[in-house]
Amino acid sequence: MSRVLEVTSLEGGYDSVQILYGIDMYVDDGEFVTIIGPNGCGKSTLIKTIFGIATFYNGKIEYRGEDVSRWRTDQLVNHGIAYVPQVDNVFPSLSVMENLQMGGNKLPTNILNNRIDKSINMFPDLQDRLFDLAASLSGGERQMLAISRALISNPKFLLLDEPTAALSPLYQQQIIERIDSLRDEGITILIVEQNARLSLARSDRGYIMSNGKIVHSGDAENILDDPEIGEYFLGSTGH
Ligand SMILES: Nc1ncnc2c1ncn2[C@@H]1O[C@H](COP(=O)(O)OP(=O)(O)OP(=O)(O)O)[C@@H](O)[C@H]1O
Ligand SMILES: [Mg+2]
Repeated sequence: MSRVLEVTSLEGGYDSVQILYGIDMYVDDGEFVTIIGPNGCGKSTLIKTIFGIATFYNGKIEYRGEDVSRWRTDQLVNHGIAYVPQVDNVFPSLSVMENLQMGGNKLPTNILNNRIDKSINMFPDLQDRLFDLAASLSGGERQMLAISRALISNPKFLLLDEPTAALSPLYQQQIIERIDSLRDEGITILIVEQNARLSLARSDRGYIMSNGKIVHSGDAENILDDPEIGEYFLGSTGH
């Protein structure tokens, strides 16, 4: 299996505020990998540093064997990486269609339209809402729109930051299933999730962060079955 992402001894943060300390992690082609950990431990910062939004200090970020440590976000997007932020991931005052168009405003119209069609096929709930304002969508529909918009750039590697936060259990389940099914389209998934059990149940592997470090990693099954981890990180002890 070929390596999509390899992060080595990564130190990162926001300007002079260091948040990440010596992060080592990887994602292989076709994998679904979940990062969990308590509030404020640096999960979003890790994803943002990989995507060139937070400040990279030191270490190495490789994407498909190439050192992309100091690449700009637009370069990463051109090489097949997309990112769905934790907050403010749609433009509420624009329609669903306009949001999707914003996802590919540099593309020729025919390609953009094809990508929008494909994206809506993956999230058919949006079909009837295309000309409604994003502000009028439910939380679940908004997340679907945010993910659909990220798909417009035709990514091969998708970074998602808590896509099920604040959603009803039904929507949480649905969103995670849809994300999982993106793997059938050849998209590799790295996701940060508070709903750890839900996400790990679909994952190949997981990483647990605490205080800006990776404190545990392993097969998702083993993480789910580990009673100590269950107690501290998964919100309950049993299944
Ligand atoms: N733009 C910023 N500038 C400075 N510090 C920041 C910035 N954004 C976040 N932080 C700080 O970085 C630390 C890690 O935040 P981060 O958002 O990565 O945590 P998280 O694990 O994603 O938390 P949550 O589960 O609440 O989303 C926190 O102490 C936070 O206050
Ligand atoms: Mg976060």
